[in-house]
Amino acid sequence: MKSLSPSNNLYFFLLHFFIITVHFASLSFSLKIGETCSSSGSSSSCDSGLTCQTCAANGNTRPRCTRIQPLSPTSKVKGLPFNKYSWLTTHNSFALKGVKSETGSSIIAPTNQEDTITNQLKNGVRGLMLDMYDFNGDIWLCHSFGGQCFNATAFQPAINVLKEIQAFLEANPSEIITIFIEDYVVSPQGLTKVFNASGLRQYWFPVSKMPKNGEDWPTVDEMVKQNQRLVVFTSKSAKEASEGIAYEWRYVVENQYGDDGMKAGSCPNRAESSPMNTKSRSLILQNYFPTNPNETAACAENSAPLVKMLDTCHKAAGDRWPNFIAVDFYQRNDGGGASEALDVANGHLTCGCDNIAYCKANATSGTCEVPPMSPPPPAATTQTTTENPSASNSNIANTDARPLQLRWLLATILTKLLLLQLW
Ligand SMILES: *[C@@H]1O[C@H](CO)[C@@H](O)[C@H](O)[C@H]1NC(C)=O
Ligand SMILES: *[C@@H]1O[C@H](CO)[C@@H](O)[C@H](O)[C@H]1NC(C)=O
Ligand SMILES: *[C@@H]1O[C@H](CO)[C@@H](O)[C@H](O)[C@H]1NC(C)=O
Ligand SMILES: *[C@@H]1O[C@H](CO)[C@@H](O)[C@H](O)[C@H]1NC(C)=O
Repeated sequence: MKSLSPSNNLYFFLLHFFIITVHFASLSFSLKIGETCSSSGSSSSCDSGLTCQTCAANGNTRPRCTRIQPLSPTSKVKGLPFNKYSWLTTHNSFALKGVKSETGSSIIAPTNQEDTITNQLKNGVRGLMLDMYDFNGDIWLCHSFGGQCFNATAFQPAINVLKEIQAFLEANPSEIITIFIEDYVVSPQGLTKVFNASGLRQYWFPVSKMPKNGEDWPTVDEMVKQNQRLVVFTSKSAKEASEGIAYEWRYVVENQYGDDGMKAGSCPNRAESSPMNTKSRSLILQNYFPTNPNETAACAENSAPLVKMLDTCHKAAGDRWPNFIAVDFYQRNDGGGASEALDVANGHLTCGCDNIAYCKANATSGTCEVPPMSPPPPAATTQTTTENPSASNSNIANTDARPLQLRWLLATILTKLLLLQLW
């Protein structure tokens, strides 16, 4: 730079070049929640934990940085019983959009998620719903009918995904994962064999320690200390005795899934489950996804209607908040989504606040502090603007949505100082 001759024209050229460069550099490395972003998908210019997305189903076409990770359930109050936290759960976690069957066939089954199990876990998913079938002499993750798997409905051998889970538990020694198996496996010890082969058996939470009559679960600290960090439920009752795999409906209540579970104002139990307010079941799972998965509609459904249903199901469950919130396309949302629903549930569960973001670490329950927010711009505008921050439709806390203007100013001052020195 110093060898350049500092003519006036060059000075102004450089000044503008620098301002623009610094401005875009700051744009591409630190976009906050709600800010307008430029690309789609995970390789966006948004901060980590955010993706760049729109929600056309709600008429929000401005691409903006959007949350895909809930706050950690244990981030404010640690060491509570397992059933005093809420865990993000993916419905048909394995049915990934755009993948081919490992048989080589194209998949004709509907798909419910967009990223790998490993990535889901990285984003804070802790509950996985897996449909398991006997297929090709092995156990496969499949989406089928009549308990029969076909090439065109078979996603992949279950061992692959179980190994991803094993790797995550190994690398994250204080995390706990729950698997809900929709179980079509009839081969003797079929599930036990595949869990053994995956290396997951060492993390197994034993059925004998599961509360049978509505008591609290062991604390998360205890589960971590004992390294019993994998909770597995099957939909087949006989396997509790034959293989030591907990029969889900002895421990969990679940509301209706599919379209019938999305009718505002009602939260009935699904057929296999006891009524939602059955207090002898310590765990509550809230399903919220349509009968036919719809990626376009998911951002709208996973947002305000989901949070509203949280209240409905809370009442239906006898004033209990869900321990698992299960959705399709968990990353899709319009200003908060499944992450927001989890934060609300964990606020109530862990510290008696309306959102876990309002909880004060180690304070007594009910000590809440709504942080002063600098809200992101409204979703529907097409330009990044900070003119009307009160019109925000998001109540996400703990975010730093510094106005772009401020950064522009900083960049300008910095550049001027730089250039003055060069002068
Ligand atoms: C299913 O896939 C396997 C390869 O994994 C192939 O050998 C077999 O022929 C396929 N079956 C049908 C009915 O397409
Ligand atoms: C699975 O592993 C357990 C403990 O490691 C062992 O006792 C059991 O025999 C194994 N079962 C099968 C079917 O491989
Ligand atoms: C998916 O949702 C969108 C937006 O709500 C709707 O227009 C479309 O018809 C739905 N698709 C299906 C297959 O239901
Ligand atoms: C809360 O308690 C934990 C363990 O008891 C401690 O490690 C942590 O520093 C405390 N946090 C605050 C903010 O006091």
